[in-house]
Amino acid sequence: MNVLKLAVIPGDGTGPEVTNEALKVLKAVAGKENFQYELTNFDFGGERYLRTKETLPKGAVDELRKFDAIFLGAVGHPDVPPGVLEKGLLLELRFQLDQYINLRPVKLFPGVETPLAGKGPADIDFIVVRENTEDLYCGVGGFLKKNTPDEVASQTAVYTRKGCERCIRYAFELTRKRNNPKKMLTLVAKTNVLTFGHDLWWRTFQEVAKEYPDIKADYNHVDACCMWMVKNPEYYDVIVTTNMFGDIITDLAGILQGGMGVAAGGNINPDKGGVSMFEPMGGSAPKYTGLNVINPIAAINAMSMLLDQQGQTKAAARVMKAIQHVTGTKMKSQAAGKMGYSTSQVGDLICEAL
Ligand code: IPM
Ligand code: MN
Repeated sequence: MNVLKLAVIPGDGTGPEVTNEALKVLKAVAGKENFQYELTNFDFGGERYLRTKETLPKGAVDELRKFDAIFLGAVGHPDVPPGVLEKGLLLELRFQLDQYINLRPVKLFPGVETPLAGKGPADIDFIVVRENTEDLYCGVGGFLKKNTPDEVASQTAVYTRKGCERCIRYAFELTRKRNNPKKMLTLVAKTNVLTFGHDLWWRTFQEVAKEYPDIKADYNHVDACCMWMVKNPEYYDVIVTTNMFGDIITDLAGILQGGMGVAAGGNINPDKGGVSMFEPMGGSAPKYTGLNVINPIAAINAMSMLLDQQGQTKAAARVMKAIQHVTGTKMKSQAAGKMGYSTSQVGDLICEAL
């Protein structure tokens, strides 16, 4: 029998608390679905950085390559300057492991409040496929005459044919697999202004679309998408977009599905032997750390995504169903401290509901 080998990076702040609940659920569902797994803990994050001045120790990435997947709690520490952990840990792992897809399911679970008036679970159920290795995130740029009145700063968006094609192809495949009656893939970009980089995306999208005649190839400018997502979220089935726009619209989408307590994401390398990493979207939430009040649903949701991607589709569906049962019939709210239960009690409720 295959043993699922997981690397666990609980990380900072409330990361360890929500990771505990996700692992509790993993243990319970593995018992029910009869699969085996093995956990290896890594202490990467702010505390370690403050001690060692290292975000990822030498050889860490090669160590992580040996696992089937990675579960990440949260990175971000109030005593570490912004950018250090984000770039040195999270983005470094995404790039080095070539996790070229950032997958963000946007699904309003039963009982979860959305800020959109008159919209319910039937209206908010789409998925965003964000390119995860290029664009403004590639770190190309620099300063000229820094700290002088003549200072110039540049930050370059880099798009490659290979990078957008593999992402677009993944999104078409996913749209086919989702089998939503809409069967529509919307490219979100800004072709009217970014006439080089997004022209490459547009042309690649049109070409790849020819291989998927069963899927409607749709296009929105990113600014229009922001309006539409709030006004008519039911319009969307699957969205594919560039890294920077994807970062922004998935936070907008995350709030539509009930916020950071619920939203989860996967950094996926779909290639053979690729190592993917799953995380709740909430961040390290320093002010709630150690209080047992943070919402673990996002982390449990991320665990369900991990199981699905690892081929444990029955276990993943079981966890997803349990989440919906608990949000729909038990929890008062998805906000930290207002759930009607503690962090660990929500984890217990999910285990009972499995
Ligand atoms: C996300 C986060 C990261 C990003 C940050 C922490 C670097 O906002 O996963 O969306 O911008 O990709
Ligand atoms: Mn983000």
